[in-house]
Formats: sequence, C-alpha cells, structure tokens
Amino acid sequence: MNSEIVASEEGQGSSPDGPRASAQRPADKARGARPFLKWAGGKSKLLAQLEKQLPEGYGRYFEPFVGGGALFFHHRPSGAVLADVNERLVRTYRVVRDDVEALILCLQAHQERHDKAYFYALRDQAIDAAPDVEVAAWMIYLNKTAFNGLYRVNRKNQHNVPIGSYTKPTICDPVNLRACSEVLQGVVIVTEDFRAVCDRAVKGDFVYFDPPYVPVSKSSNFTSYAQGGFGPQEQAGLRDLALKLKKRGVKVLLSNSWCDEVLALYSKGFEVQKVSAPRAINSAAEKRGKVFEALIT
Ligand SMILES: C[S@@+](CC[C@H](N)C(=O)[O-])C[C@H]1O[C@@H](n2cnc3c(N)ncnc32)[C@H](O)[C@@H]1O
Repeated sequence: MNSEIVASEEGQGSSPDGPRASAQRPADKARGARPFLKWAGGKSKLLAQLEKQLPEGYGRYFEPFVGGGALFFHHRPSGAVLADVNERLVRTYRVVRDDVEALILCLQAHQERHDKAYFYALRDQAIDAAPDVEVAAWMIYLNKTAFNGLYRVNRKNQHNVPIGSYTKPTICDPVNLRACSEVLQGVVIVTEDFRAVCDRAVKGDFVYFDPPYVPVSKSSNFTSYAQGGFGPQEQAGLRDLALKLKKRGVKVLLSNSWCDEVLALYSKGFEVQKVSAPRAINSAAEKRGKVFEALIT
C-alpha cells in the first residue's frame, strides 16, 4: 500500500494532497457538509461528547481510521491528514475532493437506472480496475442502496451485502457532495495502515483514533470494513502507538467499546470516560439501543 502512495506522490494518478493543496476553503460553500457515506461505527451520535475532548489548539488533525469521517466533517479542521486501509474508500474521498462534478454525473446515471437487477449487476462488477470516478460512484451507490448501508466484503474483496428495502433512496446529493468537496480541499488522503500514517504526526498535532471496536459480544464482532481483521494484537499495537505519540508531544483521543479488555488496555497512562451512544448499525433491530463507549485521552 505504501508503494501506491509513493507512486501517487510522484504524480501518477490522484495524489494524496490533491491539486489544490494550498487553496483556501470558502467557508460558505463548506457549510452544512455531512458525511457522504453512512459507515458502520460512524460517530455522528457521539459528536457532542467528542467535541468536548478536542484540544483547544493543535497543528494538523489526523484521522487514521477515517471511515465516514463524522468528526472530521463536523469539526472541519483547516489542516488534516485522513487515512484508511480500505483503498476503495480512500479513492472515493479523493474523487470527492478532486473531481466532484464528474462524480455527481456518474451518480445521477446510477440514480436513474437503479433497480434490483441494476444493483446486483453493479455490485458484482470487478470495480478495482475501473477509473477512480467509477469506483467512487460504486461505493456511494452501494452505500445508499445496500442493506443498512453496510460495506462488507468476502475474502476475495467482493462486496456481498444484499439490496436494502429503500423505496426511493437518495443516491446523489449534489449539494452535500460539493460541500464535502470544499471541506476536503487541501486535505491529505492516503491508503495507509494506522501505524504508518502516524509517522507523519509531529509535536503539537492531534490524532483521533476510531478503530474497529473490541467486540462486546460474539454477535457484535463486526470487523469486516476491509479485508483482514482487527484483533487483540492490533488493539494492543494501537495502545502502544498512542503511548508513543503522547511521548512525542502529539495529542491523542481514542474511542472504543466500553468493556473489560479496553479498560485493561488503557489502565495506565490514559484517562477513560464512559459515554452512552445509540448504536448506529446493527442488523438485529431489537438490539439497536443505548450502548456504552469509552473515550480515551
Ligand atoms: C469504526 S470505523 C471508523 C468510523 C469513522 N470514525 C466514522 O465516523 O465513520 C473503522 C475504520 O478503520 C478502518 N481500518 C481497519 N483496519 C485498519 C488499519 N489497520 N489501519 C487503518 N484503518 C483501518 C476500516 O476500514 C474502517 O473504515
């Protein structure tokens, strides 16, 4: 994955920094921007509590597990680095940043043709070889039409979520896409593992980690956002990285599930706060309700 980034930084394809890295963002056009994807584990219900934990001043804003980027779009920091291991997701963010009008046209075409047969034909397309704009339109289309907006892939990286039962889904929202594009101007967007992207953070920067959560029960073990899982080793690696960053003078905020494993991981050197949040995505309707999460500083 790093080789993809090096290639991009040398000018092949869409670059992490985008073409207008130094452009000023016109505040009015960015106003009202909301995440353009509904993402499992999305933080829209926890924004008020997260905001209270943001440091007053900091250098650059880092979000190494960006997903739908709820905190990023809410807070709209002026200098930011966003990352995720899901390359299709990262390609989508770059298209929203760099080529939003082409994306809108592509999504409008999907909107017009949307039905069950079209959904499955598009879903099962070998999408990775397609141009970035088509990948982005594929991601957004499936996010608006698949069951519960879920993104889940099998071992071959094939999307395997069935169609949802939406009667008239809004597949293309040009106003919000343009607002998101404005917010993303000048933002560095990379496909990198969380450990690699944090090498870029320096003293005074701020990192918000929202990793795949430690499962609180067997049925809540949803870690298939991308290929590969996020098990105890990754959770411990993340805690070690957070400690290292703190020692380097980087400000750190983490969220995770409220459970014994998380409390044990962060028992030394961190402050852990218990907050409650309605569950955003759960396939069993009766299990949607209040769950507790840990905010760690
Ligand atoms: C809980 S979601 C983030 C939700 C996001 N904060 C939001 O508001 O929508 C976790 C994200 O971590 C990504 N991820 C999983 N393993 C990763 C890794 N090793 N490095 C970076 N990102 C990873 C997944 O692809 C997923 O998008």
